[in-house]
Amino acid sequence: MTESTKAYDLILHGATSFVGQIMTEYLANYQSESYSWAISGRSESKLLALKNRLGLNIEHFIADAADESSLSAICEQTKVVVSTVGPYALYGEALIKACVTSGTDYCDLTGEPQWIKAMLDKYESQAQTSGARIVHCTGFDSIPSDIGVYSLQKRAIERTGQPAKHVKMRVRKIKGAASGGTIASMMNVLKEAKEDPQLRKALVNPYVLCPSNHGFTVRQKNHKKAEQDKQLKMWTMPFVMAAINERVVHRSNALLDNMYGSEFRYDEAMSAKTASQAWTFTLGLGAFMLGASVSPIRSLLESYVLPKPGEGPSPEEQLNGMFDMRFYANLEDNQKIVIKVEGDRDPGYGSTAKMLAQSALCLAKDVPDLAGGFWTPASALNEALISRLSTHAGVIVSEL
Ligand SMILES: NC(=O)c1ccc[n+]([C@@H]2O[C@H](COP(=O)([O-])OP(=O)(O)OC[C@H]3O[C@@H](n4cnc5c(N)ncnc54)[C@H](OP(=O)(O)O)[C@@H]3O)[C@@H](O)[C@H]2O)c1
Repeated sequence: MTESTKAYDLILHGATSFVGQIMTEYLANYQSESYSWAISGRSESKLLALKNRLGLNIEHFIADAADESSLSAICEQTKVVVSTVGPYALYGEALIKACVTSGTDYCDLTGEPQWIKAMLDKYESQAQTSGARIVHCTGFDSIPSDIGVYSLQKRAIERTGQPAKHVKMRVRKIKGAASGGTIASMMNVLKEAKEDPQLRKALVNPYVLCPSNHGFTVRQKNHKKAEQDKQLKMWTMPFVMAAINERVVHRSNALLDNMYGSEFRYDEAMSAKTASQAWTFTLGLGAFMLGASVSPIRSLLESYVLPKPGEGPSPEEQLNGMFDMRFYANLEDNQKIVIKVEGDRDPGYGSTAKMLAQSALCLAKDVPDLAGGFWTPASALNEALISRLSTHAGVIVSEL
């Protein structure tokens, strides 16, 4: 089936996941443009229950991660497959294979650099040939980081003719909680890294997701502990999502023909109100990571402490959540520039579901000339996505 004869603009695969249900509800109420969509998942009874609950009159398809033909069948029907079936390192590969084979576009919510790297190595050239546009990380990881840096650098170049050499992102405010699916994905990265020394080495490389000919050699800062940033006059503490976001931003730079420069430095951290808050958080996070990397403790945490797959923040927590991220740089003319990216729901679910839906629509409708390959949100969707997010997803980019 050709692009123009496909029945749907998008199929949401994994519609019954915690975040998939939120996105289904968002699309059920989203009427600002015309588009065609359907949902899929492994359990017909869950898909029917979801449609019933939302009063939805749309098609559903049964597709299991272990059944390649069911995944190829959904690719035949749609321009874009959106997947929330994770951990992606456990369940994601067959769908990537089906998309690159059939030339179907794809976006997801993975924050698992080791899996993205494996997919790049295996399927990038096939996607370039078949025309499939694959865009990972179209949720809280890593859209705000990616479009924040892109917007800052665009302004820097407009004003001075040069990109900023160093951009710092600081999370100023964040309110939200993790779901069982996200915890399961994080635990799986820790488990795989523990078992594979090669992988541990790859994961500390900030350029691990860049094309092999990237040529970047600048040493990047890694915020592992509480620190005082004298230049920004604030205490900082580690930001867990930096591990994926920083790598996506460097890949964007490479795919945008080094728009941020070949000497570009980028680091992410959370700001803290006081030194003691920064240290308390850092020590707590360190203890958690240490515990989670030890198999018996990880099992205890998964069984008794952490949310299970399918669980996550309540509707009230999503509604009352928010995020505020700032991007700081000094420009060539010595002017300072600060970009703010803010979201009006909890980052991981309320905002992520809207960002994912708009990324999929953007891919289906706004970028017909984009070539096949593995892209990042900023390199593939940039202006069109930024505009969609501010109009339809409560994610606003502004200069302060
Ligand atoms: N990037 C971000 O900012 C961000 C934010 C939120 C979540 N995430 C990621 O998104 C993913 C989903 O999170 P979540 O909390 O919504 O997870 P979840 O509720 O645990 O959902 C996982 C989904 O995977 C499906 N699934 C599992 N095995 C399958 C198989 N063999 N075939 C087909 N489907 C299968 C489950 O189906 P059933 O419904 O039938 O059980 C469920 O729909 C996770 O990887 C998480 O890390 C990322």
